[in-house]
Amino acid sequence: MFYNILKCLNSEKLFSGMNINRRDWLKTAFLGSAALTLSPLEFLANETPNFNELKNSNETIRLCFNENPFGTSPKALEAMQKSLSLSSRYDFKLADVLCEKIAGNNNVKKENILVSAGSSFLLELITKYVSLDKGHIIIPDPSFTIFAPIAEFLGMSKSVIELNDKKKIDLEKMKNSIQKDTKLIYICNPNNPTGDLLSRLEIENFIKSIPDNIIVLVDEAYIEFTTQKSLSDLVDVYKNLIVTRTFSKLYGFAGARLGYAIGNPKLIVELKKLQSWSGAEISVVTMAGAIAGMDDKEFISKVLDNNQKVKDFTISEFNKRGIKTIPSSANFVYFSLENYKSDYFKKLKEAKILGGKTYEEKGKWTRISLGTIEEMRKYFDVIS
Ligand SMILES: Cc1ncc(COP(=O)(O)O)c(C=O)c1O
Repeated sequence: MFYNILKCLNSEKLFSGMNINRRDWLKTAFLGSAALTLSPLEFLANETPNFNELKNSNETIRLCFNENPFGTSPKALEAMQKSLSLSSRYDFKLADVLCEKIAGNNNVKKENILVSAGSSFLLELITKYVSLDKGHIIIPDPSFTIFAPIAEFLGMSKSVIELNDKKKIDLEKMKNSIQKDTKLIYICNPNNPTGDLLSRLEIENFIKSIPDNIIVLVDEAYIEFTTQKSLSDLVDVYKNLIVTRTFSKLYGFAGARLGYAIGNPKLIVELKKLQSWSGAEISVVTMAGAIAGMDDKEFISKVLDNNQKVKDFTISEFNKRGIKTIPSSANFVYFSLENYKSDYFKKLKEAKILGGKTYEEKGKWTRISLGTIEEMRKYFDVIS
């Protein structure tokens, strides 16, 4: 059965008339070529699943998906295990409990929250919503623009705005690209892949300066790795602001899947019209885990401490090698291969380290996710 699902995913045409299938598109959008060996669950496609193969996949060091190197919060895992036996029942209340708790953590009300199985699907949902009457979107480049092909498929046009010379999202250029039919402007903050952070004031001033019928989508997938407050408390002030956040990074839910959007209640109600049953994409197990994980202060501070230490170490190692980096406010570092004389990707491949892909400027810039200190030591041994 699982095998059939995988086969089906493989052959499904996502964009009619385009020579690309759903699985390939996801791989390209998310990960680059490293994705070809990505799934520790591919063994399930065999007729006789061998669960020990999961262990073997751990030999690969995964430094290209911005995942949590410490796994999932132990409190979340405990709650998930306890809730497994609820898997056979629909749950009509847990999504409410979850939204209430997320709302409290973001200083907003439950009515401001929309949950889904990962924030990618909320980016997709918002894209579909703004595409209803066609129009134009503005996106920075490089950034996490996984939703842009959907917008184009649904008939939207787009302006792609390069980063400025400091590798920051160029808000001024984005503003100057506004057209009569612009529906959405996407800002990833901190930006993936650069890790650069725009201040709250910069974004707030930007929102004030543009027409209020344009939705400003601020993707805060990595905001927990900064000390900057989320923009979530501004969604009732600026009705065209919508913020997305995820459990994938800090809480280690990339495989469990949970993300949320924060917007003013009217916009949230509109977006819910595109979900047949809001909240039901998320499994009971994931919801139970998230509710418990949000209180796991010990895990959260361990992850944040490690992230800062490993980031300092990584940047100083790059500096020693004369490799240019961009200051990062996230759990990855963007750096230039300009002064790197060997074949970087070949070295990583030989050492079974997944290290991402190149971006902009003829492939000179790339990104490395921060792992544990041991993983980063091995990484630097390999690339030395
Ligand atoms: C900026 C950004 N937004 C959203 C996502 C998607 O996260 P999720 O796992 O919640 O779908 C990612 C994943 O890497 C990301 O980098």
